[in-house]
Amino acid sequence: MFGACEPWLSAVDSVPRLLYIARTMRILSGIQPSGRLHIGRYFGAVRQFLQLQEEGNECFYFVANYHALTSMQDKAELEMLSWHTAAGYLALGVDPSRTLLFLQSDVPQVTEMAWILNCICPVTMMEKATSYKDKLAHGIPPTMGLFDYPVLQAADIIIYDSNLVPVGADQKQHIEMTRDLAGRFNRAFGADVLVEPEPYIVPSVSTVPGIDGQKMSASYGNTIEIFQSEKATSKCCAAIVTDSTPLEAPKDPDKCNVFALLKLFADETEPTEIAELAEKYRAGGYGYGQAKGRLSELINERFAPAREKYAELEKNPDHVRDVLAEGGRKARDVAEATMQRVRDACGLVTNR
Ligand code: TRP
Repeated sequence: MFGACEPWLSAVDSVPRLLYIARTMRILSGIQPSGRLHIGRYFGAVRQFLQLQEEGNECFYFVANYHALTSMQDKAELEMLSWHTAAGYLALGVDPSRTLLFLQSDVPQVTEMAWILNCICPVTMMEKATSYKDKLAHGIPPTMGLFDYPVLQAADIIIYDSNLVPVGADQKQHIEMTRDLAGRFNRAFGADVLVEPEPYIVPSVSTVPGIDGQKMSASYGNTIEIFQSEKATSKCCAAIVTDSTPLEAPKDPDKCNVFALLKLFADETEPTEIAELAEKYRAGGYGYGQAKGRLSELINERFAPAREKYAELEKNPDHVRDVLAEGGRKARDVAEATMQRVRDACGLVTNR
């Protein structure tokens, strides 16, 4: 537990202490500032982060800017997108009085942890990483950083003694590698130095398709951004790729990118709306254009409050920096405590 968050602990004082310890989990996740926040990120990750926060867990969420460097080498862009990602999280509901929000680069200890993990990580483990192969296939240059990405991710997770890591299904392999590395470390240097974390795959949301039908991802340039105008949203929805079935003909909702995106809003619409839309698809006479119009309305309604909050943060960018500085300070204290344990377990003498 980190001392400075005690006010938050006192908020649950009414819960018997033992019960409280038993049910509280340390949650950690990172988001790469590799582009502007989009609805795939929201449904695939951020929504879950917020729910875990609301359930009273001890959450650590950070902007993975060291990771972003594997695919982005542009100072102004990295700085801008790091701020944008943090501001976006805050606007969407991350509450810094309960949750640590920070920049990965404010905790340089993770790079030290990554080095130590590198020394016990077989090259063959990294060679099996599907996300690495996928990134190469998308033209990202194969640097050592890109190859080593999962080890740095493991360091992020391990350094905060995290129990649960909420991620999309595509990240599951990285969490399995983390467990494997934590186990190897403990076997090599002493049982129970490191916590072996569990993945927590966001339920019911499989991969969110982008406007071209591939996985929605900033690096594929196929996103629907959260923080854009209503007009830009409808333009973006209009560009979603569909087949050329004519308006009158019956359509298969399960093969349609627009419908896959509409389904994400099932919790926000009337309980029957999505089923009714599926019926309309199958009956024919309902066009993709209409479905796209409904989708853009739902997006605009859903994100209106967050857009307003984001606009306020844009007027006071230093507030976001202050939140990050405070979160970074607390995260660094936790990380340094783990590193002292780790250095000691490995025989790395430091004379500080
Ligand atoms: N690789 C994650 C992604 O692309 C981002 C990330 C970096 C992360 N470090 C992490 C996620 C640690 C969970 C835990 O989404």
